[in-house]
Amino acid sequence: MHILDFRSDTVTRPTPEMRAAMAAAEVGDDVLERDPTLERLEDRVAGLLGTEAALWTPTGCMANLIALSLHLERGDRFLAPAQAHVLGSELGTGAWFAQGMPEPLAWEGGPGRPSPEQVLRIAGTPGPYYTLRSALLCLENTHNFAGGTCTGVSEHRALVEAARSRQLRVHLDGARLWHAAVSTGGTLADLAWGVDTVSVCLSKGLGAPMGSLLCGSREAVAEGRRLRKMLGGGVRQGGIMAAAGLVALDHMPRLAEDHEKARRLAEGLRGQGLPAPVPETNIVLVPLPRPAEAAARLEGVGVRVLPVGKALRFITHRDLGPSDIDSALERIGPLTMELSA
Ligand SMILES: Cc1ncc(COP(=O)(O)O)c(C=O)c1O
Repeated sequence: MHILDFRSDTVTRPTPEMRAAMAAAEVGDDVLERDPTLERLEDRVAGLLGTEAALWTPTGCMANLIALSLHLERGDRFLAPAQAHVLGSELGTGAWFAQGMPEPLAWEGGPGRPSPEQVLRIAGTPGPYYTLRSALLCLENTHNFAGGTCTGVSEHRALVEAARSRQLRVHLDGARLWHAAVSTGGTLADLAWGVDTVSVCLSKGLGAPMGSLLCGSREAVAEGRRLRKMLGGGVRQGGIMAAAGLVALDHMPRLAEDHEKARRLAEGLRGQGLPAPVPETNIVLVPLPRPAEAAARLEGVGVRVLPVGKALRFITHRDLGPSDIDSALERIGPLTMELSA
């Protein structure tokens, strides 16, 4: 049976075009000097995000960790929307390595988002010397565990302005900022307006085998390069990976197809009586009473999904075609009573 893998948009395989670009990549030693293809990728992504510079990292976790380490000192706390990747899915590195005290913010501004008033209220004003200092607001767009929800340009601006008025720095985990741009029509630069740093991932939806970029000022990136080396992320002929990343960037407009597939999937699931919301991007979270058991049941019919909290998570991506959505719905249909019970 052909397995339909909806676990993540990271399961995609590099395209023949990517593999050819990797084979032909011009390379150098990026620790001793600069790898020319990595440099080209960094310059291109900095241009897209409207920042002075960008730094390639092997993973999104490393890009976020470098950012938090740049912005936090002992005795600082950082605010992030509840269930943000930096809070629950990066093994506490924001606390034990970057040394920040995490403060989850309930989603008062909408799914996956704090409100500007909440940022003002919770950041507060500096207290006596023995109190924690609020130093950083860490946003996430799209918000993975809220179901791929977007923060639009004006909401983003209001959040950054609120943080700034309390002297907070701002990092944006934009692992799927591409999806937010395609869904909202905002440019990447506008969606990253005013932040100190923003991380983006080439391996989520765009199809690259690996690679993220941390974008910010020249100084932030220069210091980030030191931190990357400290973490073991200084690679040599990284142009091999960067070449795939450059091809991946050309695929951004086709994310709209993944969003359409997610909409069709959710509609089909609703038609079968399952409580699938209308997705904003490529993630469909279906709340179910026993998600782990439901995932095991779907695995039995070749539909692979992840239980996430109290829901099943389906993510659409380029390696699933429109007919795969129909096949998934056909396989799920006979099980819906059982899944909902
Ligand atoms: C929102 C978000 N940030 C960061 C990451 C981490 O990326 P990586 O798996 O490349 O470390 C992920 C991974 O899925 C993510 O969804």
